[in-house]
Amino acid sequence: MTARNKQTGNPEHRIERRIDALREEINAHNYRYHVLDDPVLPDVEYDKLLIELIELEKSHPSLVTPDSPTQRVGAKPVGGFVEVQHDLPMLSLGNAFSDEAVEDFDKRVRERIKSAGPICYAAEPKLDGTAISIIFENGKLTRAATRGDGLTGEDVTHNVRTISSIPLKLRGRGYPRYLEVRGEIFMPRAGFNALNDKARKAGEKTFVNPRNAAAGSLRQLDPRLTAERPLDMFAYSVGQVRDGQLPACHTKALARLRDWGLKVCPESEVAEGPEGCLQYFQQLAQRRDDLPYDIDGVVYKVDDFELQAQLGFVSRAPRWAIAHKFPAQEQLTTVVAIEWQVGRTGTVTPVARLKPVFVGGVTVSNATLHNFDELQRKDVRVGDTVIVRRAGDVIPEVVRVLTEKRKGRPRKIKLPEDCPICGSEVIKPEDDAAARCTGGLFCSAQRKESLKHFASRRALDIEGLGSKLIEQLVDCQLVKVPADFYALSEEMLLGLDRMGPKSAENLVAALQKSKQATFDRFLYALGIREVGEATALNLANYFRSLEKLAAASEEELQAVPDVGPVVATHIAAFFRQKHNQEVIEDLIKHGVHWPMPQAPIKPNHELAGLTVVLTGSLTKFTRDEAKARITALGGKVAGSVSNKTDLVVYGENAGSKLQKARDLSVKIMDEKQFISALPEP
Ligand code: IVH
Repeated sequence: MTARNKQTGNPEHRIERRIDALREEINAHNYRYHVLDDPVLPDVEYDKLLIELIELEKSHPSLVTPDSPTQRVGAKPVGGFVEVQHDLPMLSLGNAFSDEAVEDFDKRVRERIKSAGPICYAAEPKLDGTAISIIFENGKLTRAATRGDGLTGEDVTHNVRTISSIPLKLRGRGYPRYLEVRGEIFMPRAGFNALNDKARKAGEKTFVNPRNAAAGSLRQLDPRLTAERPLDMFAYSVGQVRDGQLPACHTKALARLRDWGLKVCPESEVAEGPEGCLQYFQQLAQRRDDLPYDIDGVVYKVDDFELQAQLGFVSRAPRWAIAHKFPAQEQLTTVVAIEWQVGRTGTVTPVARLKPVFVGGVTVSNATLHNFDELQRKDVRVGDTVIVRRAGDVIPEVVRVLTEKRKGRPRKIKLPEDCPICGSEVIKPEDDAAARCTGGLFCSAQRKESLKHFASRRALDIEGLGSKLIEQLVDCQLVKVPADFYALSEEMLLGLDRMGPKSAENLVAALQKSKQATFDRFLYALGIREVGEATALNLANYFRSLEKLAAASEEELQAVPDVGPVVATHIAAFFRQKHNQEVIEDLIKHGVHWPMPQAPIKPNHELAGLTVVLTGSLTKFTRDEAKARITALGGKVAGSVSNKTDLVVYGENAGSKLQKARDLSVKIMDEKQFISALPEP
């Protein structure tokens, strides 16, 4: 468009100007959202801009350009993949599996460049996705290709264009006329889980891990399919550059890529010498499971491009970089047996007993199979070779069976007809993934779990009354119902394993102390199905007396916030049962009591009174839901981080606000920690 045209009042030109302005504004918001993690526009407003642009382009097709933000999904699938030659080969990295190997790498670097002082390394996560090369000509995305064998890859431009965090047009000025950006395309974990959940519900095949999902999604012939996959990308280096200049070191070059609109990993840092690298490695290893995407190690790169050039390459890997790998989170082992565990509400859960295997830093010999439906879906059988996964403090799980390694014809596992603990009938409703033992408190497993719940920190908080002790007390028939705890004397306790006079005395004192309860904790401790802490609090504040609550009809119960028909049925059924009435009466007889204050009981919560800032995308809540939960607990939600902020809760792709919180030493919590800080609904 010429300058003169812009100035004319011709309606056609006005439309052209409006289209330009809309594209610029949309691109600027995309950049704030994806790269800066600092969106300023509510989604609805953004959508309005996009809809206006779509409408204008529809009525003026001649004004559509390939770099318009409306042009991400091409119309037609491609017939096949076209091979492309990489101008500069896409290399791989040497691996280090120990601190010594990293020290040796640094020594080799220093010897080769004859450096007396420590080397500056760019330390960054090794992203577990798939490598990509993207060419921008005159700022416009013209080609994207996979790594292939490093020399020849496949053209996947049609798919890469659908990834919303990759700009179709670079921002600002100063970029080389020809710029090849390299990076990793990956699928954030939350998106991967959602994708697999959806596939599972539709009875379709699931992906084994986010890396396979990312690679598979990128190699689709139909870009409309790729567009539906939650892919993301971090740029980690630059390939071929023509007609332009880049800064003299890696970290500064990445900062420029970021200015031009590309997303770079916010976890990258400069580390000095091998000590700095190893410190970075330790810190990242601690946070690995809290990151919103999978990583399998750290990459150290000599930061200075001049030194990189001096060091050069050996075979297909640079001498100036190395990948320091984390211990594997997945391993192969064999299933020795499949057993069933019974939970507090009778849920019968299959557990695989495994040949012990070292995975994710510990030896694992049990892995959950979650529920019967999952066991059937994975079709795990005794003797099978399986992949076990242990990620951080998550319970180890069986990922899948290597059926090709199955020997003989092991029997398919059936749901037990009777509870393996108490012999009562096991039932499994069609629409429920969980099977349940119908024994109720007759079943010692359910009894043990109910008693553990009763004594737990968020219920009556009986200090010193842990799982092992409760199991012993049930097994030697000292305790059957919660009230029996209060009949325990020091003499009775002294007969138990690992119980000295001091512990016995402390436990009796703790039991005595726990009799002074609050109404909501008492209700929670009863373990009524679907009544978590928050519901217990609402019930306590609404009814304010146990008699009234126990006599309430299902309709009355549904007047309580958060109580729907299902929860109301569970509550009413609980109080109708004679056995439960006796449990409560006995507890009261033993002196368990609670004052009922005039004012409603306030949630006594660690978030009460705090000013909280939310940043990044949370996976389990919308912003509004998270905000509602915080305010319900007496906290306040603010928009920006300052020294008045008490806490920053961060989700996926958190950026500047999280950084600011770190700079100001404000307490931070990731989504997982936030969820565990919330009371159960
Ligand atoms: S740099 C010459 N940086 O690791 C340097 N690679 O074995 C080449 N990868 O397939 C790559 N995260 O896709 C680099 N921060 C990172 C990386 C990274 C993951 C992948 C890369 C390649 C493999 C190299």
